[in-house]
Amino acid sequence: MGIAVRYPKRTPDFLKRCHAAGQTRHTAAAALRPGDYNCLHQDLYGEYVFPLQVAILLADPGEDFTGGEFVLTEHRPRMQSRVSVVPLRRGDAVVFAVHHRPVRGRRAYYPGDYASRRQRSCSAAVAIRWASSFMTRHKSWVITPDLFEASLAVVRLAEGAMLLRGFALPVEVALLDEIERLVAEAPFRNMITPGGYRMSVAMTNCGTAGWVTDRSGYRYDPLDPASGKPWPAMPPVFADLATRAAAAAGYDGFDADACLINRYDPGARLSLHQDRNEHDFTAPIVSVSLGLPATFLFGGQKRSDRPQRVPLAHGDVVVWGGPARMVFHGIMPLAEGEHAQLGRRRINLTFRRAL
Ligand code: SIN
Ligand code: FE2
Repeated sequence: MGIAVRYPKRTPDFLKRCHAAGQTRHTAAAALRPGDYNCLHQDLYGEYVFPLQVAILLADPGEDFTGGEFVLTEHRPRMQSRVSVVPLRRGDAVVFAVHHRPVRGRRAYYPGDYASRRQRSCSAAVAIRWASSFMTRHKSWVITPDLFEASLAVVRLAEGAMLLRGFALPVEVALLDEIERLVAEAPFRNMITPGGYRMSVAMTNCGTAGWVTDRSGYRYDPLDPASGKPWPAMPPVFADLATRAAAAAGYDGFDADACLINRYDPGARLSLHQDRNEHDFTAPIVSVSLGLPATFLFGGQKRSDRPQRVPLAHGDVVVWGGPARMVFHGIMPLAEGEHAQLGRRRINLTFRRAL
């Protein structure tokens, strides 16, 4: 298009250039509620702009919402703007020029430009329809690389399973205070599996019952085997968070009676497993991540199903229940790092209805 900018071959190099110019934010995902609208705009947030943008529709038109068409306009010199409505179905992506598109001149291509009367600016579109197998294969709306994924606040991992990004952040201080208090009463310990292995994740519990393992098996126990006393009571801020997160993921009335508290130091991991020691499986599992980031493995109903790798950060909450209640899941070995509040650790709270 006769422009001087050259783009690096690899996304990370382009991101570095953007970051150096102070452009560090991801493009936001827009969740529109009834009556909301997103005015005509161009996504130009700094000096460096990748020339193409992809918008993906995550909801089912007609089923999840009506109206709300995706509109693109092209400004043309001395002519009326051209407006196109792009009908999208769930899973469709539209690739369009962020700002300029190449317009064929008499001798060469030139960039369309809104400001100039001679040239044109645009948001012209090419619509791509993903094969329906694309959505089935991915069983998730996390369908493009990190840039897009990182911008979603709520990610559906599978039927019945949701990641709620940052859901626990508003109560992080209270959670960390309570954890300190609970751990003073019932310290972390590395339990032994029935097969005789020492778990790399250190654990403790609060609530009416605690999850324990030793040579005789996995089970819920109302008493802490280390002290012979009942586990500390579940703090109201824990129980309330679990109930609200479950409700946000579509499980009303979740009333956790057990909270397993896991501590991961760098290198600690949790291999693929199902949560199956609970009394009834109608209640979901609510899992809260604090401290260092981790990679959550979220598999299928069979151990051999290839798991998704879901990055979890401080304050993220994952809820799985219903058809996803028995999915295999785990945590990849924790990478080294330093977290502002928790240092070299990740702490995970897993809420269950155990008894
Ligand atoms: C668990 O599966 O019990 C814990 C998962 C996690 O640490 O995120
Ligand atoms: Fe688990």
